[in-house]
Amino acid sequence: MQHVQLTPTLRFSRIIQGFWRLKNWQKTPQELLTFVKQGLEYGIDTLDHAACYDGFKSEAEFGRALALDKSLREQLTLITKCGILYPNSELPDIQSHYYDNSYQHIIWSAERSLQKLQCEYLDVLLIHRLSPCADPEQIALAFEHLHQAGKVRHFGVSNYTAAKFSMLQSYVNQPLITNQIEISPLHLTPFDNGTLDFLLEKRIKPMAWSPLAGGKLFAENGHRVAEILRKIGEKKGETRLDTLAYAWLLSHPAKIMPIVGSGQIERVKSAVDALTISFSEEEWIAVYVASQGHDIP
Ligand SMILES: NC(=O)c1ccc[n+]([C@@H]2O[C@H](COP(=O)([O-])OP(=O)(O)OC[C@H]3O[C@@H](n4cnc5c(N)ncnc54)[C@H](OP(=O)(O)O)[C@@H]3O)[C@@H](O)[C@H]2O)c1
Repeated sequence: MQHVQLTPTLRFSRIIQGFWRLKNWQKTPQELLTFVKQGLEYGIDTLDHAACYDGFKSEAEFGRALALDKSLREQLTLITKCGILYPNSELPDIQSHYYDNSYQHIIWSAERSLQKLQCEYLDVLLIHRLSPCADPEQIALAFEHLHQAGKVRHFGVSNYTAAKFSMLQSYVNQPLITNQIEISPLHLTPFDNGTLDFLLEKRIKPMAWSPLAGGKLFAENGHRVAEILRKIGEKKGETRLDTLAYAWLLSHPAKIMPIVGSGQIERVKSAVDALTISFSEEEWIAVYVASQGHDIP
């Protein structure tokens, strides 16, 4: 497994495991523990959570698995996110869907994540989405507090534009270590709107959420892209569509770190195997052109 050094004290495995769909996996704590250990055998040591996944229940589910083998914690890099709220049975006081980027909420959410994940510290806390009326001074103060208390070691953001990233970094003392954004062969926006150019300029490595477009790659609307990926795969002796899509992302110079959404270990292996395949610029652009549906100028 390749690793990406984000700061002198933080590295991510190039392939990251995501837990948004944990509920669908229907795993017992023991099965979940086994799944995490199988991922570790492939070198996947970086795991992505969020406070709000599965109605604010998924962190606790993961925590129950981790509690079965506490020695695992030191081998893992745990990322979680805060700031999205919506009505749910765990937090009955929440009446509407909104973002809370306040000092109090960020601290409350990080401390709740620690408790639910049954951990002493978080490796990384991301602001899940920037509230359009967020006060960056409050975010900076919350990060400072959590850092000083030893509760969170590193900070970053998710779904930020370049301008929002720069703005927040100008307030925050700690380096923002990543931007977790949607990138896939069916979602080209970050290649074109300056988000990836900005991250390349700043030498910040992005995490890619929904790298297989949430499964749409395998459906009718992914047909055109699937066809070209398979054609290119033929030359490389690779028939797995998911492996080819991951390889396309991994071949981009921004050092994209895809987050695997599946709980099936053979599909996780498809992602890991993509590390051995590279796309030439000509092949890469053929997929880009198929996705946008018209030729480049
Ligand atoms: N920051 C954010 O705002 C944000 C938003 C969304 C997600 N995320 C993160 O990104 C992670 C990945 O997102 P994602 O789950 O949408 O990733 P994804 O890989 O794009 O989509 C996963 C979906 O594709 C299906 N799939 C995977 N391989 C397949 C195959 N070979 N054939 C058919 N279907 C296949 C999976 O089904 P199975 O489950 O049946 O394998 C699952 O339904 C999440 O877990 C979360 O950590 C972050």
